[in-house]
Amino acid sequence: MSQPFAAFTEETLAVLVGVFYDRVRQDDLLGPIFNGVVGTEEAAWDRHRARIVDFWSSVLLSTGRYEGRPMVVHAGLPMIGPDHFRRWLALFQDTAQGLFTAEAAARLAETSTRIGRSLQMGLAVARGEDAGKYL
Ligand code: HEM
Repeated sequence: MSQPFAAFTEETLAVLVGVFYDRVRQDDLLGPIFNGVVGTEEAAWDRHRARIVDFWSSVLLSTGRYEGRPMVVHAGLPMIGPDHFRRWLALFQDTAQGLFTAEAAARLAETSTRIGRSLQMGLAVARGEDAGKYL
């Protein structure tokens, strides 16, 4: 890549999400889960990616475009545990480092870690589990 992205824009977030989910789909731990839930059709993946770009656009650009409820969606996926979150965050942060400047990648790392923690705490409570086993 010639120049790392320094700013969050619709375009740079779409690249981040595209590269990240390409890696997720090939990952030995996460791939089977995503390919099982989203499927293997490109149209389904286009919808998933568009939704996730909306999510990051709302978080980082305050566009308010994402109106879903991630906690409810993940609570409906009983196979997801701490190992999945660790792998998800490691892949996401590694992808961010490969595309963005150090400063922008650090912001993505911080934000994804915070959201990951809150999702996992919510899941633990919803499942009646000990939150201590997460992170
Ligand atoms: C910080 C970590 C994570 C973030 C920020 C995140 C974010 C999201 C968001 C915003 C959605 C869309 C929900 C909706 O439809 O409104 C989603 C869906 C989903 N996530 Fe996560 N997620 C995270 C971790 C994980 C992990 C660890 C897994 C485990 C494999 C996972 C699996 C899924 C699946 C299968 C869907 C449903 C996809 C679909 O039906 O299109 N996520 N996630």
